[in-house]
Amino acid sequence: MLLPIVETSRPRFSDIATGPASISSVRVLRISITDRCNYRCVYCMPEDGVSWLPKEEILTFEEITQVVRAATQIHGIRRFKLTGGEPTVRAGLIDLVAMLKRVDGVEDLSLTTNGQRLADLARPLRDAGLDRLTISIDSLDPDKFRRITRTGDLAAVLIGLDRAEQAGFGSIKINCVTMRGINDDELANFARLTLRRKVTVRFIEYMPLGDAALLNHVDDHFHPGPAAGCGGQNRGDDALLPESEARDLIERELGPLLPVDRQSEPGVGPASVWQLADGKPLGRIGFISAMSAPFCATCNRLRLTADGLLRACLFDGGEIDIKTILRNSNESLDALAHAMTECVRLKPTVHSGHGGKQMSRIGG
Ligand code: 5AD
Ligand code: SF4
Repeated sequence: MLLPIVETSRPRFSDIATGPASISSVRVLRISITDRCNYRCVYCMPEDGVSWLPKEEILTFEEITQVVRAATQIHGIRRFKLTGGEPTVRAGLIDLVAMLKRVDGVEDLSLTTNGQRLADLARPLRDAGLDRLTISIDSLDPDKFRRITRTGDLAAVLIGLDRAEQAGFGSIKINCVTMRGINDDELANFARLTLRRKVTVRFIEYMPLGDAALLNHVDDHFHPGPAAGCGGQNRGDDALLPESEARDLIERELGPLLPVDRQSEPGVGPASVWQLADGKPLGRIGFISAMSAPFCATCNRLRLTADGLLRACLFDGGEIDIKTILRNSNESLDALAHAMTECVRLKPTVHSGHGGKQMSRIGG
């Protein structure tokens, strides 16, 4: 007997493919909740700031939650990272954290902050259910910290770090952007933090993005690059301090670094993870080397900008406008999920190394 022919809807190639351009590889959605910031880091934005997005362009908490629902329910994404700009300058942040933690399937919600407001916010963030914290600190010298951030106060950030530990955040990460001639004399001091604190210090290679490329460090002043956007003459390439050199600088002062099994590090980031062999360290040391060793082939993240664009890559690739879908009341979670599938397909095989969009608009 002939079996009846059953019409099945065939999965699209992109739904079943593996590799970084497949939605099935995405493990983390990074959500920028504002492009605004209370700092003006020399490597991130010009002194006068950048033109901020109009408020009505920014996704509401309900819209962000809807995107998270689509990501968990349809794609099984479990990890979410709130970024900025500086996420703590967005009013109602604590409510947003609580809202997102109520979404079924959200297993790991973390936040990257410059720490300026953390002294007051660490406890409420923890109480609202935030799982993990990353704090950006690029110098342990208060004057230099001020010159790099232009407005920041290191003492306030360090109090924030203490309060975050007291509030029960277990595996705090510290992000340090390494810049030749700016903070390369401090890398061992950063690594020393892991001897007495249970933190992971991550050294991030400087990436030339947007209108804030660094020029050289002359006469104790950091010279921001030409506000020329993509294609500026000198985009601060001299500032790049590759991981190999950073490791050398640390090992020369503090002895060998031993590799740590990446799987044991909370968060599934692109960092290679190490530990000082000497001195019984409590913490770990990571390197994020997007410039000297692009990790595009194992990229497992997707980004959402504050104004509702899904973005395939920090540097280049493509964007898909998801705000229009969100604001068209007839559209369903499926439409949002489909946009995610399509966006991941736009990832470049390897990034170009220069990005035209401000980091503060993408969220790192
Ligand atoms: N290059 C490297 N890291 C950067 N960050 C911001 N701008 C750059 C850049 N141009 C870092 C921030 C923060 C993280 C999200 O990205 O310091 O820790
Ligand atoms: Fe603000 Fe972060 Fe940019 Fe510094 S790097 S200006 S803290 S968004």
